[in-house]
Amino acid sequence: MNYNVSEKFKSLKPSAIREIFKSLGTPGAISFAAGNPNPDSFPVKEMQEIANEIFENEPVTALQYGITEGYTPLRDLVKARLKRVYGVGADRDDLIIVTGGQQGIELTCKVMCNEGDVVVCENPSFIGALNAFRSLGAKLVGVPLNDDGIDVEKLEEALKNNPKAKLLYTIPTFQNPAGITTSLEVRKKVLDLAKKYDIIILEDNPYGDLRFTGEDVPTYKSMDTEGRVVYCGSFSKVLSAGMRIGFVCADKDLVSKIVVAKQVEDVHTNVLFQMICAKYIEKYDLEAHIREIRKMYKHKAELMIKALEENMPKTVSFTRPEGGIFLWCSLPEGASLDEFVKKAGDRLVFVVPGTAFSADPDEPCRSFRLNYSMPSDEEIVKGIKILADIAKEL
Ligand SMILES: Cc1ncc(COP(=O)(O)O)c(C=O)c1O
Repeated sequence: MNYNVSEKFKSLKPSAIREIFKSLGTPGAISFAAGNPNPDSFPVKEMQEIANEIFENEPVTALQYGITEGYTPLRDLVKARLKRVYGVGADRDDLIIVTGGQQGIELTCKVMCNEGDVVVCENPSFIGALNAFRSLGAKLVGVPLNDDGIDVEKLEEALKNNPKAKLLYTIPTFQNPAGITTSLEVRKKVLDLAKKYDIIILEDNPYGDLRFTGEDVPTYKSMDTEGRVVYCGSFSKVLSAGMRIGFVCADKDLVSKIVVAKQVEDVHTNVLFQMICAKYIEKYDLEAHIREIRKMYKHKAELMIKALEENMPKTVSFTRPEGGIFLWCSLPEGASLDEFVKKAGDRLVFVVPGTAFSADPDEPCRSFRLNYSMPSDEEIVKGIKILADIAKEL
């Protein structure tokens, strides 16, 4: 059967990362390709105990339809935590629980953008968001990243050249894939530009809790005085990714539109997991749990950076993240990324080529993403040594 699929989906390719996963079954394979949290960060016993209690005491709430906005106790807990930790949530704001941050990103674009409208994003950026924007018929305009965040001059140029720009999608803290954190100075300038060119900032912050060194930088949303920032977060990287619980905090008027859009997609987020999540926060110490995850990732990031410093030729550069789960490696001018990634795969070390994260996948790229949350310590040391050998050969 030759399916005449919609124009929007004709051009969408499967995520390069999901494709790489298919090669990972080979024994001895080392993957730096994942974006997964380490399974040691899942509070399995606690969640099992909570699930048992729910089925014992409140089975109907868990098994019945819920409200689209989300399980009220969870919404209240998330609102309180966002206010306390991130200064997020003004009187005019509301919060909706969504099925992972991914859905929050997609719904925000869906209610904000018409087909042909422009979404400006960091280049490189999170592939799941880029594909969501593409699937909604938005045009992507990428703006390069510097060490301190999005290039503000190029951002202004992009906004000037694209009067149909509606949204700036940004991951300001421990960016995926680059591991970069946007400085306060840059954030202030970006807010000014958003005002000047009248665009909405979609601030995606799934990694903000995972800082293991350095100082916190205020969120865009905490500095927003006019309802210009939509804040999207998730429990995927601090409790469980399979639970699929994220949240969007934005102006009430916008949240009410997101509620309608969510009703069309999935009515509401899984109630059982919303209840488990809420009861975990009520009963256990989420902040202590997060501190343990930070310790684990600090160790792994430092190990990877040390292995890179000791083994990689000096012509290969890499970012030094202060949190999150990724760093970004760049080959020197003239090197072929395709050849590097292919040779690494042949030696069973998997990385994601930077092209996967580009607003324009045809744009040349010499960088690749490395994940340190998933591999074991031994895999980090061994895998980086192999990548360094390939870089030297090339
Ligand atoms: C930057 C970024 N935003 C959003 C998400 C979506 O996370 P989830 O849908 O699991 O909450 C991810 C997942 O890897 C991500 O890296």
